[in-house]
Amino acid sequence: MDRRVKKIREAAEFIKENIGGKTPEVGIVLGSGLGKLGDAIDAEAVIPYSKIPNFAKSTAIGHKGNFIFGKLAGRYVCAMQGRFHYYEGYPMEQVTLPIRVMAALGIKALFVSNAAGGLNQDFHVGDLMIIRDHINLLPNPLIGPNFAEFGERFPDMTAAYDLGLIEKAEKIAKRSRIAVRKGVYLGNTGPSYETPAEVRFYRMIGADAVGMSTVPEVLVARHCGIPVFGMSVITNVSNIDNTSTVLNDGDDVVRAADAAADRMCKLFTKLIENL
Ligand code: HPA
Repeated sequence: MDRRVKKIREAAEFIKENIGGKTPEVGIVLGSGLGKLGDAIDAEAVIPYSKIPNFAKSTAIGHKGNFIFGKLAGRYVCAMQGRFHYYEGYPMEQVTLPIRVMAALGIKALFVSNAAGGLNQDFHVGDLMIIRDHINLLPNPLIGPNFAEFGERFPDMTAAYDLGLIEKAEKIAKRSRIAVRKGVYLGNTGPSYETPAEVRFYRMIGADAVGMSTVPEVLVARHCGIPVFGMSVITNVSNIDNTSTVLNDGDDVVRAADAAADRMCKLFTKLIENL
């Protein structure tokens, strides 16, 4: 058996034993400061990543490092309270291992969230942005021998973010009076924030928000054929000139994410209820 497939199976088997063999319907990845949704889950099992075979340790701030299994909006879900980032030094195989494990557990949809910097000049701190597309400036996690068990060599990315889920989310947001933006997320490696020149460049190529995660997970989920819904919380607005006194700082990002987390939780919960 392929060494990578063995690792995925071992992790999935361990989790299955701990959740009584149940099949989660939806996988959720909670980004920096967005772990709150985990508290809304009627948890049946909380599994620290450190206990799961082959999982890395989560070191990023605002990330708890737990897999939560339980009921949300009447559906059995699994949520990652915290994720692995490329900037932490993990290879892409480790960064995306949990996604393949959730795929092996049988999820039918993946919800991803992140804290992101606003590039679009209309965006403000605290805004929620439905991700409609992405630009990948991270190494592609699908590089290497293809996992034929999961998907094809050249997966299509025309609709990486599920159009039906976006439409539903917009309707729910409107009904619930939650303001949402829609835009393109650009994933870069970090951990340094963008220079003003990079911000101007990213805007020019069509990005609305920038962050250091999500894209590898989405590529892997789409490779597995899993529909994806993504949301960014705008935690800071990016500088375009060198005269600005506004500096980016990891703690500000976590604080701003926390303030927006309730709205995002409500939207995710209603969307999962209405899947
Ligand atoms: N840049 C990159 N990643 C981020 C930012 C940012 O401004 N804010 C939160 N994550």
